[in-house]
Amino acid sequence: MRKRFVAGNWKMHMNIAEAEALASAIVERTKGTDFRVLVAPPFTALHTVSKIVAGSHVELGAQNMAAAEKGAHTGEISPLMLADIGVSSVILGHSERRHDYGESDSLINSKVVLALSHGFEVILCVGETLEERDTGKAERVVGTQLESGLAGVSEDLLARVVVAYEPVWAIGTGRTATPEDADAIHAHIRRAIGDMYSSAAAESLVIQYGGSVKPDNASGLLGKENIDGALVGGASLKAEDFAAIVNA
Ligand code: PGA
Repeated sequence: MRKRFVAGNWKMHMNIAEAEALASAIVERTKGTDFRVLVAPPFTALHTVSKIVAGSHVELGAQNMAAAEKGAHTGEISPLMLADIGVSSVILGHSERRHDYGESDSLINSKVVLALSHGFEVILCVGETLEERDTGKAERVVGTQLESGLAGVSEDLLARVVVAYEPVWAIGTGRTATPEDADAIHAHIRRAIGDMYSSAAAESLVIQYGGSVKPDNASGLLGKENIDGALVGGASLKAEDFAAIVNA
């Protein structure tokens, strides 16, 4: 049985005081849920939020991670630093990293392998652009991102990978994939994992949907067979909305 999993990606929002208030409210409002719940604050608020979620059901994620453990990497954050703060999961390959900061499939793969070797769970984001969708390439693009992102990852380690399907055209735009469209790509992802690993691996893979998930569309999406959770951006910045998605 796949455990439902809702993660909030706060992106570049929230100062320390705001992060503290939001994390406390999320812990409070999502108490008693059967879902896994995770928040991914900006790096500057991770330490503060880690103290708030410690001992609660809310897990702590990072929005990115360096592809190296230490050294001359100005501006980067090491897996050792994230582990030190109590981070358990790392979001990698987010479309904003791919498209706005030029992260390649091979860089993302190095990060995935390194994160797994440090014991983190990885939320690997994949998703096509509008042009790729309109030209019928969505499945191929997502398949390539999966294959390259997971190169060198054994089936044992795959148990610590969650895939987030986030169509680029639906992120922060208010446009959501219909539950049917999203479920079709999720099913494709599951088949691809089945081909790369095994049917058992495919069956146990948790696949989140991301892209303008809101309280009013969450239950339609999460009601689909292959949609096991959500990676939420904008709506994760209000405890009320985020909790409504978790409780959908
Ligand atoms: P959004 O962002 O919910 O604001 O569309 C989702 C994401 O980028 O993870």
